[in-house]
Amino acid sequence: MNVFIDSRFSDDNRNKLLYDGAIFVHAPSPNSLKLCQLARDLVEEAFGLVDPRRVQASMSAERAAEILSVLKPKFIHHPKAKEHIQGMLADLGCDLAKTYFDVPRLRTAFPGEYLKSGIAYAFHPHRDTWYSAPFCQINWWMPVYAIGSENCMAIHPRYWSEPVRNSSSQYNYHKWNMESRHSAGQHVKQDTRVQPRPAEPVELDPQFKLICEPGAFYQFSAAHLHSTVPNTSDLTRYSIDFRTVHLDDVWTRTGAPNIDSACTGTSMSDFVKGTDFSRLPSEALALYQDGTELQYNLPSHAI
Ligand SMILES: [Fe+2]
Repeated sequence: MNVFIDSRFSDDNRNKLLYDGAIFVHAPSPNSLKLCQLARDLVEEAFGLVDPRRVQASMSAERAAEILSVLKPKFIHHPKAKEHIQGMLADLGCDLAKTYFDVPRLRTAFPGEYLKSGIAYAFHPHRDTWYSAPFCQINWWMPVYAIGSENCMAIHPRYWSEPVRNSSSQYNYHKWNMESRHSAGQHVKQDTRVQPRPAEPVELDPQFKLICEPGAFYQFSAAHLHSTVPNTSDLTRYSIDFRTVHLDDVWTRTGAPNIDSACTGTSMSDFVKGTDFSRLPSEALALYQDGTELQYNLPSHAI
């Protein structure tokens, strides 16, 4: 597996390598720093006088979940967040007229057992493609405050080419949106939502723990098996992630290989164009739709 650090590739060439399992690590760019700062401002405003990395020492998990259930949507829908993503894409030489992105998520990983479900879900090993992500999806991930090996995110490279038995056949993106996502704030101690999971033991090692400074970020294919590293530090991790697809690859159905995903539905309608935030052309979306989007009669972007 190749890890490219601050490499200068054209976006097209970079995407081809990402579909082959490469990871790209980027130093902070002017606009990634702005996105990082926006997240910090909102986090610090939400927790007031409490150090956001030590909230677990100052309040109940229920109270933290309440605060996060206001903070996270506020970040997701903040107009400046979209603007900074546009800037980040331009910083990396992406063609904004052909690059589509979805809203950025703000994630938290609290130490120990404090809060790891619902609004602060600690992700078990998964591929985003088990969650109806398209195979041309590229994930972008960035820490908001300094992280270490005990509170980061990990990629499990051996499973790039090795299938994992999993329950993705039970997952439909449109059904999930209709039934589960809006209730994330209610799952404080235990998460009862049905999610695609490995159905056999997964060996987490060898694993890549990519530890970069706040505002630095990395890209990897949605088909990589990855997970939240159990937080054994005493500091909460805050991170931002968002996803992109390239229009040319959407049309040609180019992307990472599918070795074990069996979910239905598609998250493709969540992506908006880098220039004017319009959705993908309906003919392009139709290439990924399987009829279940009508069955669960709710546009995914309405959530
Ligand atoms: Fe993921």
